[in-house]
Amino acid sequence: MDALPPEASDVAREAARRRSFAIIAHPDAGKTTLTEKLLLRGGAIQLAGAVRAKGNARRTRSDWMKIEQDRGISVATSVMTFERDNVVFNLLDTPGHEDFSEDTYRTLTAVDAAVMVLDAAKGIESQTRKLFEVCRLRDIPIVTFINKMDREARDPFELMDEIEKTLALDVAPIAWPVGRASEFAGTYDLREKRFLPVDATDADAVPLDGPNDARLPALVGEARAAALAEEAELALAGFAEFDLAAFRQGTLTPVFFGSALRDFGVGHLLDGLARYAPPPRARPADARTVEPGEPALTGFVFKVQANMDPNHRDRVAFVRLCSGKLIKGMRLKQVRTGKQVPVNAPLFFFAKERQVAEEAWPGDVVGVANHGTLRIGDTLTEGEAINFRGVPSFAPEILRSVRLEDPMLAKKLKTALSQLAEEGVVQLFRPFDGSPPVVGVVGQLQLDVLQSRLKVEYGVPAGFDATQWQMMRWIAGEDRTAIERYLDANRRDTAEDHDGEVVALFGSDWRRKRAEEEWPMLQFHAVREQH
Ligand code: G4P
Repeated sequence: MDALPPEASDVAREAARRRSFAIIAHPDAGKTTLTEKLLLRGGAIQLAGAVRAKGNARRTRSDWMKIEQDRGISVATSVMTFERDNVVFNLLDTPGHEDFSEDTYRTLTAVDAAVMVLDAAKGIESQTRKLFEVCRLRDIPIVTFINKMDREARDPFELMDEIEKTLALDVAPIAWPVGRASEFAGTYDLREKRFLPVDATDADAVPLDGPNDARLPALVGEARAAALAEEAELALAGFAEFDLAAFRQGTLTPVFFGSALRDFGVGHLLDGLARYAPPPRARPADARTVEPGEPALTGFVFKVQANMDPNHRDRVAFVRLCSGKLIKGMRLKQVRTGKQVPVNAPLFFFAKERQVAEEAWPGDVVGVANHGTLRIGDTLTEGEAINFRGVPSFAPEILRSVRLEDPMLAKKLKTALSQLAEEGVVQLFRPFDGSPPVVGVVGQLQLDVLQSRLKVEYGVPAGFDATQWQMMRWIAGEDRTAIERYLDANRRDTAEDHDGEVVALFGSDWRRKRAEEEWPMLQFHAVREQH
């Protein structure tokens, strides 16, 4: 762990022992299995939100959670905290289904590192790549875990090359597999010169003099020992040496091999996270950069979830703390509105149940119950007027108009859509020509969740109809008058989003390209940072 000066404050000390991270993976690579194994090691299996929507340990909190259960996928982002060897890990779970990648992207704004899980038989897959690009945009350091080594896998050299080439990232092997598939015997720790046998506990690691150690054949057999001796030499010569600074800048990834299902290599990975992953980093805000060790509290909302408890209509805002100490009962300033928000019962997602936190520190995530005051992207402080940037919104890929079964419910629908838009469940666009609002989602499943929540939580049965638009983009440009001219010329194909930002609606990609050509002074953005 990074050394601290003796005079370091409590805040700096607590921040330094925190590791807040997410797991990024293509569906089926083993994220859920790995999460469970990590939590077991931390002694805290925690089911706030959903680790996975399979199995029967899930509590049904609302109907849309049932969708998760029926479809066997995880929709909600949740946070899980566990402690091991004096390091506090905050694991921010991200939905695996690609329809919910927007939630995932937002979660990545709240972590300091990510574990990239690859299926050893498949390597880099489409979703891995997409999520990796978001990490790269934010310089999030990545630890790679090559999973499923217990079964038929691709050649490790080929996998390492693929990471290096497709992601343009230096790779530094930390563990190296000994034997393959059913012959997989464990890993050799290239840095510590140890053999980690597959069927033993972490404590049973065998210290060695190197990959040529004469004791190895007795441990793993002649053939595997000979292969390791050759491969270890090639791996050390052919790939980068681990470099902490390069890792933390996001240009190099340490690589671990293992099997989540067999709980192998997970302890090694966790040690790697504790040792190498950064504690909370300084975070840029509009007015200045905030250091985690600062005494005054700052944080931002990266997720809002409604009806976590069906008995209360409260919404829980997930706040990532960036500096200072949170004490139960504090009143915080919501910078966007200047309002005071009481934090009487911050939820901490510790151990088996949600608990009320007495205190929380930089890197922690707490849930703050509120009645819709807090929105995604909001900054909370003890009084200072600063805003953290960078919780993104993505251009929805599906645009629909809402069809009410009972027209008398129009007003209720309006309220419901507006609340759900604040929560980030749906994006809402109001066309400037006065036609009915259009809802935008990233994937079909999100529409199902929307429909279910409208009915169950708001009593508004509704359906969706196609619109004449295929896509939307946020309009930006230095020249305000050019934007005004664009809006005047395209009244029927422009709208404002829920935060009053102007958007262009397009019937086809061809039309979008044409608008870009005809309006070179404007930009049509597919991503917008919320504030
Ligand atoms: P995900 O969250 O990334 O989508 O993946 P998940 O952990 O659900 O794993 C996907 C499948 O891969 C599961 O099998 C899981 O048991 C299996 N798996 C995960 N890690 C390993 C591993 O290290 N080795 C092997 N051999 N398999 C692994 P499933 O049959 O789809 O689901 P289940 O019925 O086992 O839950």
